[in-house]
Amino acid sequence: MNTAEIDRALRALRLSGMAETLSTRVMQAQAAQQPFLETLGAMLQDELDRRRSRLMQRRFLVDFDWRFNPKLPRAACFELHTLKFVGEGTNALIVGKPGTGKSHLAKAVAYQATLQGYDVRYLEADAEFARYALATTDERTRLLKEWVEPDLLILDDLFLARRMAETAAEVLQLIVHQRYKLRRSVVITSNRVVTMATTILDRLMHRCAMLEFEGKSYRMKEAAARIAIGPETS
Ligand SMILES: Nc1ncnc2c1ncn2[C@@H]1O[C@H](COP(=O)(O)OP(=O)(O)O)[C@@H](O)[C@H]1O
Ligand SMILES: [Mg+2]
Repeated sequence: MNTAEIDRALRALRLSGMAETLSTRVMQAQAAQQPFLETLGAMLQDELDRRRSRLMQRRFLVDFDWRFNPKLPRAACFELHTLKFVGEGTNALIVGKPGTGKSHLAKAVAYQATLQGYDVRYLEADAEFARYALATTDERTRLLKEWVEPDLLILDDLFLARRMAETAAEVLQLIVHQRYKLRRSVVITSNRVVTMATTILDRLMHRCAMLEFEGKSYRMKEAAARIAIGPETS
């Protein structure tokens, strides 16, 4: 068999992980005069790695029950999960009722982005902004740098408090302005849309996907299931 035929055979056998690295592994084996078993081992590892990462990619899609809240913007969720928006430097705002899966989606997107080699930062926004408010000037500079530098920043559960603390609003403005200039994406999840300074909103919403999560809380469903099973007998 020549390389093309081997490639076809691997794909027919559904060994796409091996097929994808075949040409590299051939070069490597020739360049290093590698023993056959070592090359075979590396190829098998390629297949295992690929299967593992495909499995992880699918987890979010498999675990999620789209029938539970049929009004969720399903197509937009998958679109976000493709990470095209990270390449384009646009933003996403995921708003809606508690327990509907906003954080689930945000984490799935964050995870997917790390798999693809992006530098990602996930923040529980209120807690981190509270930390910022208490920080010294030097620490604030360092924190802000950490929040501006990554390719993708996730601010989970922003605006839990009805009114944002002044410093929180300030740091949000700094983050949004600087990331906007650098064309770096921000994903925000929130239970409510509160009034934000228009200077923040303008930049945030200029290139932004809006995802509305309307529906019932999945946490209730989980709690109900636990009650139905009954208290533990021990
Ligand atoms: N439709 C769904 N199918 C499966 N699990 C879900 C669904 N919606 C939410 N969950 C799960 O319920 C819990 C609460 O969801 P979460 O994403 O934290 O809600 P939110 O951030 O919108 O308040 C999480 O464990 C999440 O994985
Ligand atoms: Mg949440």
